[in-house]
Amino acid sequence: MTKPLTAAPSRSLSGRARVPGDKSISHRALILGALATGRTRITGLLEADDVVATARAVAALGAEVRRDNGAIEIKGQGVGGLHGPRGALDFGNSGTGARLMLGVVAGHDMEARFTGDASLSKRPMGRVLKPLRRMGLATEDEAQTLPLVVRGTPDLIPIVYELPVASAQVKSAVLLAGLHAPGRTTVIEPMASRDHTERMFTHFGAEVTVKDEADGRRAVSVRGDAELRGVSLAVPGDPSSAAFAIAAALICPRSEIMLEGVLMNPTRTGFIETLRDMGAGIELVDLRHEGREPVGDLKVTASALRGVTVPAARAPSMIDEYPVLAVVAAFAEGETRMEGLSELRVKESDRLGATAAGLAACGVEGRIEDDDLIVVGKGAVPGGAMVETHMDHRIAMAFLVLGLGAGQPVTVDDVAMIATSFPDFVPLMTKLGAEFK
Ligand code: S3P
Repeated sequence: MTKPLTAAPSRSLSGRARVPGDKSISHRALILGALATGRTRITGLLEADDVVATARAVAALGAEVRRDNGAIEIKGQGVGGLHGPRGALDFGNSGTGARLMLGVVAGHDMEARFTGDASLSKRPMGRVLKPLRRMGLATEDEAQTLPLVVRGTPDLIPIVYELPVASAQVKSAVLLAGLHAPGRTTVIEPMASRDHTERMFTHFGAEVTVKDEADGRRAVSVRGDAELRGVSLAVPGDPSSAAFAIAAALICPRSEIMLEGVLMNPTRTGFIETLRDMGAGIELVDLRHEGREPVGDLKVTASALRGVTVPAARAPSMIDEYPVLAVVAAFAEGETRMEGLSELRVKESDRLGATAAGLAACGVEGRIEDDDLIVVGKGAVPGGAMVETHMDHRIAMAFLVLGLGAGQPVTVDDVAMIATSFPDFVPLMTKLGAEFK
C-alpha cells in the first residue's frame, strides 16, 4: 500500500539535530563484525530497513547479533567461518547489502539464494558477479539480476581487477572476497570512491594498501587469509541524510540549523563542496575523528545561491546527493549543470529520469543532455504538484524538501521507502520547523 505525504511551504528552519548513522558504514560494520573473531560493539548504527536486512543476512550465516545497552553487539565467526543459510537472504531495497554480501558468500563453502524487492531485482548485479566469478564464485547461470543462487568456495583466487566505473559497492565486494583468498587482491578504480571498507579493514586488523596514481586512479589491495579481530566502533552521522536538512535550511528563508556529528570523509563531501561553490553558508565546526573517520558539526544558514557546473570527477563523492542538489539548484539563480551522471540511472530508481520528471512537474525548467542534468534556477519554485518516487527513498525526500521551499505544497506519491535509509526523516525535519501533512 502506498503512503503519500505533502510538504507545505514552511517558515524558517532552526535548531539542532543529529542525523542517523551512516548507511554505508553501518552495513560494513555488521559485515566485518560477522567476519571477525570475538565481539564487535557498534554504537550509532543506522537502524533502517536496508541495514536491518544486512543484520538479518549475517545472522542467517551464523553471526550472533544482539542489542546491548543502546549498542549492537556481534559475535563473529572469523574469516571463512560463516555457514550456509537455511532460507533465502532477502536484501529488500538494498543494493549495498546484496552486493557486499555476494563478496562475503564468495569466500565460503556455501550456497545462498539472494532476493530483493521489485526495485532491487531490476538493478545490475553483473558488475559484482563478473569479478567474483573470476575469483571462483559459481552462479547457476548467466543471471545478471536478483533473484540469484550463488555458490562460494574456500579456494578463491586473488585477482587484480580494474573497475570499469567508480563503484564503492563493487570495490568492496571484491575486497571482501579478497579477505578469504591467498595472496593479495587488488582493485583499481578510475576515481576514488567512498573508502569506508578500506578504513574499516584497517580498524579490524586486515592489511590494506592504497596507492593514488597521478591520473586520479586509485589502487586498493588487501592481503588475503586475513584475521580480523572484533572492535568497538561508533558510526558517524550520514552525510547523505544530512543533505536533506542542509538543502531545506538553504532554501527556506532565514533558516539557521546546526547538524551534529556528520561524517566528513572527503570521499563523501562533494555535496557540501558544490553548495559552497553556489554560495551556501555552511560552516564546519569542531572537526574531529571518531574511529577512523573524520566527523564535524555543520552550521547551515539560508543563502542566496547561484548556478554552477559540477564536474563529472566529483560524482563519486556525492553520487547519492544529485536529486537533492537538483532541487537546491532550482532555487538558485542561473543554470546548474551536473555532468557525468550515467550511474544515476542504475540506483534505487532511474534517478536521472525521476529527478528531471519531478522538477518538471513542480514547474522547474531543466533538461537531460546525454548523461548531464541541467537545471535552470530562477530563485523561486512554483511547486503545487504530485511527484512520482518510483520506490526511491531519496527521490521522496528530495521532493519533500522542494515542497518546503516552494510556492505551493508538493505531494510525493509514496514515503514508505524513506524507512530504508532515514526512518526519522519526517520527525527530525518537523523538529527543525518543517511542515508536512
Ligand atoms: C554505496 C556506494 C554507492 C552509493 C550507495 C552506497 C556503498 O553505490 O550509491 O548508496 O555503501 O558502497 P555505488 O558504489 O554503486 O556507486
